[in-house]
Amino acid sequence: MTLRLSVIGTNYLGATHAAGMAEFGHDVIGVDIDVQRVKVLNAGQSHIFEIGLEPLLEKHTASGRLRFTTDYTEIADWADVHFLALGTPSGPGGAADLSQLHSAIDSLAPLLTRPCLVVGKSTVPVGTALKLQERIRRLAPAGDAIEIAWNPEFLREAYAVEDTLRPDRLVFGVQSARALETLQQIYSIPLTESTPTVECDLATAELIKTAANAFLATKISFINAMSQMCQAAGGDVTLLADAIGYDKRIGREFLNAGLGFGGGCLPKDIRALAVRADELGVEVLSDLIASVEAINEGQRTELAELAIEQAGGDVHGKKIAVLGASFKPGTDDIRNSPALTVAHHLAQSGADVHVYDPQARLPERDGFTQSGTVDEAVSGAAIVLHLTEWPEFRQLDPKRLGAIVGTKVILDGRLKLNAKAWQQAGWKVVQIGRALTM
Ligand code: UDX
Repeated sequence: MTLRLSVIGTNYLGATHAAGMAEFGHDVIGVDIDVQRVKVLNAGQSHIFEIGLEPLLEKHTASGRLRFTTDYTEIADWADVHFLALGTPSGPGGAADLSQLHSAIDSLAPLLTRPCLVVGKSTVPVGTALKLQERIRRLAPAGDAIEIAWNPEFLREAYAVEDTLRPDRLVFGVQSARALETLQQIYSIPLTESTPTVECDLATAELIKTAANAFLATKISFINAMSQMCQAAGGDVTLLADAIGYDKRIGREFLNAGLGFGGGCLPKDIRALAVRADELGVEVLSDLIASVEAINEGQRTELAELAIEQAGGDVHGKKIAVLGASFKPGTDDIRNSPALTVAHHLAQSGADVHVYDPQARLPERDGFTQSGTVDEAVSGAAIVLHLTEWPEFRQLDPKRLGAIVGTKVILDGRLKLNAKAWQQAGWKVVQIGRALTM
């Protein structure tokens, strides 16, 4: 059954969700206050680098099933369901800033004159959904005929389209059988493919999302703490991760040691969870998250200091090559990028930092040079840092680069390079999480 859906907010989450819902056969209008972005999306183009998104936008803006607007009057009484896919950035003290959600509701609600379902997808502190429902009902002519549901997303950047079209689970936080039925209609395609579904109350749905993020972050910080242990005691963290990962209860994913986690979601979402836990007096959780964050920050500082040490202790005026700027491979997103934190640290220590990334563009003000190629970055450098594990960096020829670099020292911050091949080409390879520094 085809439904009419609006998706409010068209950044990573909203644009992908809107395109995905059109692919599921629904009629979709995406809404954003950004006139330029709406124009780009209506032309079937993507304003972000996300694999598979542009073809979907192209396909469905052409089929007429998907369009974008800045005008709330076009969606208000048109849509059966309004999705809220707005950002919830870090506010003061790390609490989630809900202002985008509030202003979207303040624009939409006064126009709602018939019953509809409003479905939250944004990551929010537990308790938010009910407060938003009160706000909508107070402002909307349709009043109590409007109901809220919460349907968090778990999409990973670089796999956002895949995760939207083939989710590994669906969470339906609902207050009524009718809302549940509507969500089941919307997701009838993944539901026929036996996608596991959890039906729950609003609070559980909100918490599921933050718990998933906090658990993933904990896994990464755990392996990074073990990597320090390996370094101190003479072990190899990659082999350790492989071995414990074979235990089905543990699993190998998210056990890659290195520079730690970054991006627009995990860091801010776990901070917001810690703040909310404190508000509710659940200090065991906020303490746990504080440790996870401290380990994560520590990896960045440690790596920058290790780079300075390996470059001779004083990096003033020395050229340093940084490979990778995005917070992970497969995306041009540089929000809270571990690689850029290290690059900043080095630039502030006086180094002449040259950064190469296959996709990410750096803002001018950052105090380092963006190189157009790996060779440009590496040429004459006193040390090379591998900080975001783009697959193409694993294909680099150490022999060829050895001929243009200043000093043949490479620091692998992601433990993904073939150390032996680099050593055979005469490089000193320094890996965090391995005691052996060769
Ligand atoms: C994350 C969650 O995975 C997703 O479910 C949620 O909806 C949004 O936040 P994303 O921000 O795209 O998605 O990044 P993710 O793939 O989870 O990686 C997060 C960070 O952890 C990256 O910086 C990555 O490099 C790092 N990471 C990941 C590690 O350091 N080690 C690992 O083993 C895995």
